[in-house]
Amino acid sequence: MTGSRLQTLYDIIARANLDAVALIPGPNLHYLTHTDFHLMERPLVTFFVPGRDPVAVAPALEADRLAESGIPFKLFAWSDSEGYTGAFAAAASELKLDGKRVAVEELRMRVLEADIIQELMPGVRLVHGGDPLAELRLRKDADAIASLRAAIKISEDALHACLADVRPGMTEREIAGRLVVAQLERGGGKHPFEPIVLAGPRSALPHGEPGDRRAAEGEPLLFDFGTTVDGYASDITRTVSVGAPSARLAEVYAVVQAANAAGRAAAGPGVPAQEVDRITRKVIEDAGFGAYFTHRTGHGLGLEAHESPNIVEGNTRALEPGMVFTIEPGIYIPGEVGVRIEDNVVITAGGAESLTTFPRDLLRAGG
Ligand code: GLY
Ligand code: MN
Ligand code: MN
Repeated sequence: MTGSRLQTLYDIIARANLDAVALIPGPNLHYLTHTDFHLMERPLVTFFVPGRDPVAVAPALEADRLAESGIPFKLFAWSDSEGYTGAFAAAASELKLDGKRVAVEELRMRVLEADIIQELMPGVRLVHGGDPLAELRLRKDADAIASLRAAIKISEDALHACLADVRPGMTEREIAGRLVVAQLERGGGKHPFEPIVLAGPRSALPHGEPGDRRAAEGEPLLFDFGTTVDGYASDITRTVSVGAPSARLAEVYAVVQAANAAGRAAAGPGVPAQEVDRITRKVIEDAGFGAYFTHRTGHGLGLEAHESPNIVEGNTRALEPGMVFTIEPGIYIPGEVGVRIEDNVVITAGGAESLTTFPRDLLRAGG
């Protein structure tokens, strides 16, 4: 499997008119090596050049894991006492990348590694590789989808358990703690992002952090959270009412629920990503809440919680079987109420399947 992934990377390099790719620890290197290398103060950079064995410049303590990764790296190891300068200089002599276009992950590579490459590997032309590299993990195989299903099941079961315990008067932080424990108890792995639990008017903060606000009757309680299985992330949002909903919460909720349903119905193979955004957004605009839907309709989901394809105006790319992404319309009325309903869908040969199945009707928590 590693060999075919490497070949896909070389195909990407050729199609994008690149000479090489340099990766630091992160999801792409994980995908190629099946190993989670630590991103830390010690630089570890791998170089992939079509037609030759990949090269790794790495701290000596990672030598064994690199050897077991299934990729035939030529290793330039450096020790803590000698430092990394000599290893990068030796790799530069081996790679001969003077004047070559070397693509990096512009959202991941740090100034540390970029400076090292430019100073110790003179003549290398660093270019943004984020877009072409997104192809590597864009279509999920059956194993990836099985892992996503498992992560989603853990998250959904954990939310059911957590909601059974929610009572008015509990703080956002207490509720978030219960949700986190419920996922870990069910076998969830690392959290792809810090869970969001927001009560009352704070639900109008799309990326708010749980704090000391207490859940109160008639108010929304918004959960946006996930877990991982084999590195693959779930990313689910549900908004519930604590006790009976206020009329305003029920009104806003119904619009978001309709938008979410329209988005899921619109998704399918051959549909431009922006079309799913347009159809979802139109429901909210037609109800007069367009100004309160302040983000894209969704984003790809896999080894990262945010990856390609973005479901956003301007993304004309046609959806393809195996693509997995979120559909997460929201309405955020500052100081008043926020509602988001987020599902995780996979494009199939004949349409789209929502991997998330948690109820979408407005649930009441708090007994
Ligand atoms: N949670 C919405 C986004 O990040 O696009
Ligand atoms: Mn989310
Ligand atoms: Mn999301």
